[in-house]
Parts: sequence; structure tokens; C-alpha cells
Amino acid sequence: MAPATAAQPLEFLLNGSPVHVDTASPNMTLLEFLRARGLTGAKEGCAEGECGACAVVLVADEGGRTAFRAVNSCLMFLPMAAQQEIYTVESLASHGALADAQRAMAAAGGSQCGYCTPGFVMSLFAEHYRPGRTGPCDTLALAGNLCRCTGYRPIRDAALALGAPPDDRFRRRLGQASPAIGAVEIDGFARPSTVEACADILARDPSAALVSGATDLGVDSNLHGRRWPTLVSVEGISELRDFSETTTGVTIGAGLPLTDIGRAWREAPPVLAEWLTLFASPLIRNRATLGGNLATASPIGDAAPLLLALDASLRLAGSGGRRTVPLAAFFTGYRKTVLERGELIAAIEIPRPLPALVRFYKIAKRRLDDISTVAAAMAIDQDTAGRVRRARFAFGGVAATPLRLVEAEQAVEGQPWNEAAVERVQDVIQRTLTPMSDHRGTKEFRLEVSKSLVEKFWWERPR
Ligand SMILES: Cc1cc2nc3c(=O)[nH]c(=O)nc-3n(C[C@H](O)[C@H](O)[C@H](O)COP(=O)(O)OP(=O)(O)OC[C@H]3O[C@@H](n4cnc5c(N)ncnc54)[C@H](O)[C@@H]3O)c2cc1C
Ligand code: FES
Ligand code: FES
Repeated sequence: MAPATAAQPLEFLLNGSPVHVDTASPNMTLLEFLRARGLTGAKEGCAEGECGACAVVLVADEGGRTAFRAVNSCLMFLPMAAQQEIYTVESLASHGALADAQRAMAAAGGSQCGYCTPGFVMSLFAEHYRPGRTGPCDTLALAGNLCRCTGYRPIRDAALALGAPPDDRFRRRLGQASPAIGAVEIDGFARPSTVEACADILARDPSAALVSGATDLGVDSNLHGRRWPTLVSVEGISELRDFSETTTGVTIGAGLPLTDIGRAWREAPPVLAEWLTLFASPLIRNRATLGGNLATASPIGDAAPLLLALDASLRLAGSGGRRTVPLAAFFTGYRKTVLERGELIAAIEIPRPLPALVRFYKIAKRRLDDISTVAAAMAIDQDTAGRVRRARFAFGGVAATPLRLVEAEQAVEGQPWNEAAVERVQDVIQRTLTPMSDHRGTKEFRLEVSKSLVEKFWWERPR
């Protein structure tokens, strides 16, 4: 599809047919649009990315291969659909014959009231056709879908019953390129293709808001009624979606969805996979980005602790030029950063060598798909005599910003990594952290859990 220019309609492919929308509020969601069009398979359960009842699939490029990618349509602003190719549950059956994912759900008794079922089916459909899948479907692909009445056992059985995808129109679709997501400018929405063009729009229009995966902004709109006259999407800026890994460091485009980071970072330390699994759900990770996570400056965001422990820096770009800022100097206060108006996070740089041991711990009410009460990432390098060469203790949820405990790091560096060193770190935590009490946990709980996580890190050392 050719890039749209000013005042052109919004265009995309929906269930194989072109769609033209002449006027659309930039704040309307894809889910609202689909349902108003009579495609009522996708449901609104929560409108905040928690339940997956609204799941649809996009055709996306995954490292050079075309794949179906399940996303929450409640968190996609409709203009973000421009140039995309989208399939809803209505497109799966052909001439009355159900798709395998639908048949498996029915055969396993995976549906009672049926409210959640189209969402489960779309997540399962994407997993069923996942390029390169050799074993059974991964049931964790359904971790962003909730069911209130059937129970998960039959749904899991349905997923595990699926073999290879049939040689049908969907599989053939994966043999062709995914749509190119390029520049777009329609009323109330712009998707520039360069950082400079993006900075230009932001400088010209003080009311314009940057949007990346919209997994935070969409919740703000749906639940808190926030509205933006103009949204500027970074999805068309290829620089923000790059990934490179060299002997001196790893550079991750700030607009690269988290799922793609996991796929692209071939020599990632094991902590990356642990961290990704604990970050939201596959539906969210398919859209959420590091740029969005860091720019919100949430004290409980999960990216900052891990990236702080890895000594990351941020490459910022805007109308005033480019600069690099250590992540440790990026947060300036509660939900405040050094970002200036018109400036965006272009990339995250992680220097090599990485620490020999890095762990990430997330304390939340639920094991998966939940917001952190406390998050901690710890890293350590030791010399041959067992003395600490480099230590990093980074926490979220214990102060107004995510932070590194530099005093604790200094207290153990050059010393043996033993129980006495753990106690020194715990002493710094007790004296310097200032957590709040809220519905997720009291400040006393947060302090105690932070201290015990250091002990856990020590117990989990390689022996
Ligand atoms: C159900 C659910 C579960 C979640 N679970 C987790 C979780 O487990 N852990 C966690 O940390 N978070 C979680 N989140 C929050 C959210 O998914 C993350 O913060 C995500 O990384 C935001 O990225 P995004 O691309 O969607 O940001 P967006 O919503 O697009 O943007 C967020 C903010 O960042 C700004 N922004 C975006 N990109 C840039 C950029 N490149 N430069 C400058 N500013 C930018 C936007 O203007 C906006 O203010 C969850 C959200 C939902 C809905
Ligand atoms: S309606 Fe619940 S995730 Fe979209
Ligand atoms: S079948 Fe009723 S919510 Fe899942």
C-alpha cells in the first residue's frame, strides 16, 4: 500500500479486503471500529490489555520471516492500523469449516459462556501458525487471555492438541512479505519515517503526543479518558526498530517491540528470557517497547532495573540534535526524565562485556501478567580470588524513580561476596530506600522484600 499523504483516508487490509476510513478520531480504538462494523467476535472485557478478549492478529515481520502476531485491539488506536494487515476471528472459518484452533477449542470443551473464546482462538491461531514451530503449541502464548468460567485445563488441552498448521490460505500468506509500515499523515495522526520528521511535528504542534506500542497510552485513553488532538507514532521510524549486537555492545531500537528483542538478541544472557516472561503478557509484549516503558518513568516499570544493572545508556534524538545519557541519570523525579519537548529515545545501548551474573526478580500479586510491587535486578563480577570487581543493585517500586544503589555497590566492591557483604547491602537498603504504601504493598513490606531479594541473589550464586 502506498504511504498516505495529508488528508488522505486511513487505509488497511481487514480480513483480506481493503478498508478506507475517511474520518476517524485518533483516539478511537481498533476494537471500537471493528465492533461498529459488525465484527463483534472481538469483545471488550477490560479495555486495559488485561483479558485478551479483544485479540486480533496483525501480519508482521519477525526477523525476516512473516508471522501472525496477536495483539489487543482495545489498545490500538485506529489510525495505527494504517497500512497494516489485520485478521479477526470472523476470518478464520472457511465455507463453514472451522479453523483448527476453533475446532480444537470446541473438541476440548474449551468454551462455556464464550465471551473470552474469540480472543483465545486468535492467540492460539497465531501460535499454531508460528514460523519455525516444531514441537507442540506453547501454552504460554495464551498467557494474556483470561477465562472466568471454563477453567484453563480444557483450553490448554486444545492448544496441546494442535499439530502443524494446514497448507491453507493462512500458511500461504506467511510465504509472502509482511506489509511495509511506512509514513502516514492523516487528520490527527502522523507516522513519520525519520527522527528528524518526528521532531519537526512535535516542535510544530505542542498538543501532539508521541505513541509507540500504546500499551500505556491506550490505557490512559480508555480508563482515564485522556485524549490527544494529534498522535505521532514512532512505528515507521526504522532507526527505532533496529537491533545490533557487536563485541563492544548491544544496541536496541527504542521502538522495537519486546517480543522482537527476545528474538533478535541471539547471545542474550539468560536473564533476558526470565525478564521477558515476567513482563506483562505476549499480547502486550507484541506491541510494548523499551522507549515507552522508560519514557513513562514509572517507578514500577520493569525495564529500568534490568537496564540499570546492565549499565545501559540512552541515545536521545530531537530537534536540538543527538546526545547520549546514562540511564542512571535519565530519571529526575517522580515520572520525570531529562527528555526535552520534541526529544525522543532512539535507542538503548548496553556495553559489553556483560556482567558474569545478572538476575531479575519481580514481586507481584500474580506470577505472570502483573505489575511489580518491587522489581530488582542485580549483577556481579568477581575476580579469581572471589572479590567483587563490579556490583550492580537496581530497584523499582522502592522510591519515586527506579534507582541504582551506588552506596551499596561501593560497600561490596573489592570485598569477598559473602554473607557480611549481603548484610552491608541490606543496611544501605534499610537506610536509604523510601518506598510508599499502596494497594500493592506497604512500605515495610517493600523494604523487607528488597532486603531478602539480595539474600536470594547471594544464595543463587553459582557454586
Ligand atoms: C496489561 C498490561 C500489563 C503490563 N505489564 C507491565 C509489566 O509487567 N511491566 C512493565 O514495566 N510495564 C507493564 N505494562 C506497561 C506497558 O506495557 C509498558 O510500560 C510498555 O513498555 C510501554 O511501551 P509502549 O511502547 O506501549 O508505550 P506507549 O504507550 O506508546 O507510550 C508510553 C509513553 O512513552 C512515550 N514514548 C513512547 N515511545 C517513546 C520514545 N521512543 N521516546 C520518548 N517517549 C516515548 C509516549 O509519549 C507515552 O508518554 C503493562 C501494561 C498493560 C496494559
Ligand atoms: S478488552 Fe481486555 S485486553 Fe482488550
Ligand atoms: S468461556 Fe466464559 S469467560 Fe471464558
